[in-house]
Amino acid sequence: MLKKLYGIIGDPVHQSLSPQMHNQEFEKLRIHAYYHPFRIAKEDLAVAIKGMKVMGVQGFNVTVPHKLAVMPLLDEIDPLAQKIGAVNTVVRKGEKFVGYNTDGMGFVRALQMDWKEDLAGESALVIGAGGAAQAIYFSLLSVGVKHIDICNRTVEKAEAMIDSSSSDTSSRALTLAEAEEEMGNYSFVIQTTSIGMASTEGKSPVSLDRLNAGAFVSDIIYNPGQTEFLKQAALKGAKTQNGVGMLVHQGVLAFEKWTGITPDVQRMTEVVTAHIG
Ligand code: ATR
Repeated sequence: MLKKLYGIIGDPVHQSLSPQMHNQEFEKLRIHAYYHPFRIAKEDLAVAIKGMKVMGVQGFNVTVPHKLAVMPLLDEIDPLAQKIGAVNTVVRKGEKFVGYNTDGMGFVRALQMDWKEDLAGESALVIGAGGAAQAIYFSLLSVGVKHIDICNRTVEKAEAMIDSSSSDTSSRALTLAEAEEEMGNYSFVIQTTSIGMASTEGKSPVSLDRLNAGAFVSDIIYNPGQTEFLKQAALKGAKTQNGVGMLVHQGVLAFEKWTGITPDVQRMTEVVTAHIG
């Protein structure tokens, strides 16, 4: 019997840990399938999607720079992905390619596992207003979190994100300085900017001086495993979580959508932690 084909499209794509995460689970769970990384240039995206359709690809992940551009090339978009404005997972349903976003819900699942299941009554601060923040913001709204403020260096981007949510929220857009002042009001704080990675290693986007010691603090960066931001949070006595859980759970959710089977979270986590410096 031929293997079912899955994969990831992006440019670059060699750094992705998804092929290892998914192929390991296909093998361990004896699912007759294979997941391949496809490096696709921007100008080739439309022809690549058409090619995957006619060649019978069963599903694929989408990464930078195609998460927005892929949307008009698909047959259907799930409502949450539509709100987020980006697709990271495509599922074949008969002759249709259906787009989903599992990044934000991957974050929510990781948060529920590491902190608490019922998030509805909590008060959140999201730091950053880029693509990752957008996925997390709309996913938190979708599980009923009512109070979510967003702070960003460019505060207009945080305002635009709140304006684009049709939900009846009390969200406010704050400057980074305002967020520092109000830090003590939040029960969880999520860092979504790129600060703390590579050239900005050792830096933090905001001071956590006023953080509540009982708060839960996440940084979606997974390499390095402990950013300056998380170190500051830990010094304040907060519980912390890095981005490994979000990366693993976006993959878990994609795997479930493709196969109907829940993979082994611990095994997938080990693939990622083996790569962290
Ligand atoms: P992603 O898709 O990974 O979220 P992005 O859409 O480029 O990436 O968003 C990057 C986020 O990091 C933004 O919130 C950005 O702030 P601006 O909207 O003001 O650009 C934030 N960011 C990047 N570099 C920053 C810096 N040096 N100081 C503060 N925020 C920064």
